Amino acid sequence: MDGANHSWVSEFVFLGLSNSWAIQILLFLFSSVLYMASLMGNLLIVFSVTADANLHSPMYFLLANLSLLDLGVCSIAAPKMIYDLFRKHKAISFGGCITQIFFIHAVGGTEMVLLMAMAFDRYVAICKPLHYLTIMSPRMCILILAVSWIIGLTHSVAQLFFVVNLPFCGPNVLDSFYCDLPQLIKLACTDTNRLEFMVTANSGLISVGSFFILVISYIFILVTVPKHSSGGLSKALATLSAHVTVVVLFFGPLIFFYTWPFPSSHLDKFLAIFDAVLTPFLNPIIYTLRNKEMKTAIWKLCYQLVIYRKIS
Ligand SMILES: *[C@@H]1O[C@H](CO)[C@@H](O)[C@H](O)[C@H]1NC(C)=O
Repeated sequence: MDGANHSWVSEFVFLGLSNSWAIQILLFLFSSVLYMASLMGNLLIVFSVTADANLHSPMYFLLANLSLLDLGVCSIAAPKMIYDLFRKHKAISFGGCITQIFFIHAVGGTEMVLLMAMAFDRYVAICKPLHYLTIMSPRMCILILAVSWIIGLTHSVAQLFFVVNLPFCGPNVLDSFYCDLPQLIKLACTDTNRLEFMVTANSGLISVGSFFILVISYIFILVTVPKHSSGGLSKALATLSAHVTVVVLFFGPLIFFYTWPFPSSHLDKFLAIFDAVLTPFLNPIIYTLRNKEMKTAIWKLCYQLVIYRKIS
């Protein structure tokens, strides 16, 4: 980014979500509370899994890594959105905009692959329980993580490749509260049809594709559960339904952004809040409320913190 190709646009301006005071105040409360809650919930999961030896298993390691990613997801767009809510001039620099796009796609892509890895983990645990620890070895877990990050980063760099050289010659108003490709591309002074198609093909296909792979894997697991586990059926179903809920919450809005052909910016924007703060907040809740081991670990951690405070 040397400024050569975008010399006429040094910053982008967000229209934001709404001009009405009442809605702005509501949004401010809603998003700041959810943002703080996402941070705390996900940090709590990371700390409990790290601290509690009972949770040192592949499933919880993957879950803690998902929480780490969620910490990223909720910190990309939400803080700036909250900060901007009451400002008249909501601007972001060209570099800031590209940075947001980079992280949205890197973290989002990584999270998609990680969700698939978690489905695979449940498949092995339920359908091949005797081989679980040999298949999901520590080495395998690290491999899964490395592959997720490589895919996420590659996807993100490939997306940016399209935009970095786009000519921006004047229009710089984004009807949104964060930078992402579908809106940004529309501002370029060139024929963008092909690019829009590329973005739909890339991000859209990846999200629709992974969503279907995930749904099919869970259906497959559900069909095979009764054959393999006699007693643990309800526990397996509870875990699986938590996973499926997270998958639907994560992919629903994404698929809408990247593949919905008609512009309907209001729904777009409000769904975007959903992905920016609500999903990262719900993940820990969905996973912990239905999971006894996780709840025990969290209580233990809180207890230890209190004792520690008293001693020191
Ligand atoms: C993420 O997964 C790796 C590999 O299993 C694990 O070593 C690491 O502790 C996990 N991260 C967290 C925060 O739990």
